[in-house]
Amino acid sequence: MKKNKFSKNWIIKQKRDIYVKKSKLEGYRSRAVYKLQEINEKFKLIKNNALVVDLGAAPGSWSQYISRNFKSSKIISIDLKDIEPIKNLFHIKGDFTEDDQKIKIQNYFGKKVDLIISDMAVNTTGNKSVDSLVTGELCIEAMNFAVELLNKKGTFISKLFMGASFNEIVALGKKTFNQVDIFKPPSSRKDSKENFIICRNLR
Ligand SMILES: C[S@@+](CC[C@H](N)C(=O)[O-])C[C@H]1O[C@@H](n2cnc3c(N)ncnc32)[C@H](O)[C@@H]1O
Repeated sequence: MKKNKFSKNWIIKQKRDIYVKKSKLEGYRSRAVYKLQEINEKFKLIKNNALVVDLGAAPGSWSQYISRNFKSSKIISIDLKDIEPIKNLFHIKGDFTEDDQKIKIQNYFGKKVDLIISDMAVNTTGNKSVDSLVTGELCIEAMNFAVELLNKKGTFISKLFMGASFNEIVALGKKTFNQVDIFKPPSSRKDSKENFIICRNLR
C-alpha cells in the first residue's frame, strides 16, 4: 500500500475508533492507555508504591495511567521523543538500546524495581513481517534488561507481534520467569498482530 493511502486509512480508523474518543474524554494522551488498563484489570499487576520503568513511553498514556491510579508510585520513562510532564515521572529523551541510557535508568532508583513495561515499537513500515521482527528485537532487549533490574517478584509487560520471533520471545520468557502469559487486550486493534507478553516472578 502506498504511504499516503496508508496514512489516510489510519486517519479514518482513528476518527471512528471508540477508544480514541474515550481517551480524549478521560484526558489520556493515547488510546494505548486502555491496553495497559485491560492487562491490569485481568492480571492485577500494578500496586500502590510501585517503582516502575516505562520503555517507549511517548506520548505518555501508560505513565499517566500509573501516576493517576497507583498512589505513591514512581516512574522513570524513556523514549526517542520528549513527553509533556506527568506527576511522579522522570523522563529521559533517548534511545533505550544505548548502554548509557540503560545505565541511567538502572541508577535512577538505586535499587531493583517492581514493574517494567514496554510498548516500544518502531514506526510501522506497512510491511507486517518487518515491523514484527524489529519490534521483537526491542522486546528481547527489554526482557534482558528486565532480568537485571526487576526484583525477584517483579513483573515485565511488553508489546510483541505474532511473527518470526514470537516463539523465541515466549521461550526466553519461560526460561527466565516462573509465570508467562500472552494476552491481546480487547482495545488492541483486531487487524493488528500486536499481543502482550506478561512475565512474573524471576526464576
Ligand atoms: C506505541 S508508542 C508508545 C505509546 C505509549 N505506551 C503511550 O501509552 O503513550 C511506541 C513508542 O516507542 C518509542 N521507541 C521506539 N524505539 C525506541 C527506542 N529504541 N528507545 C526508546 N523509545 C523507542 C517510539 O518513539 C514511540 O513513541
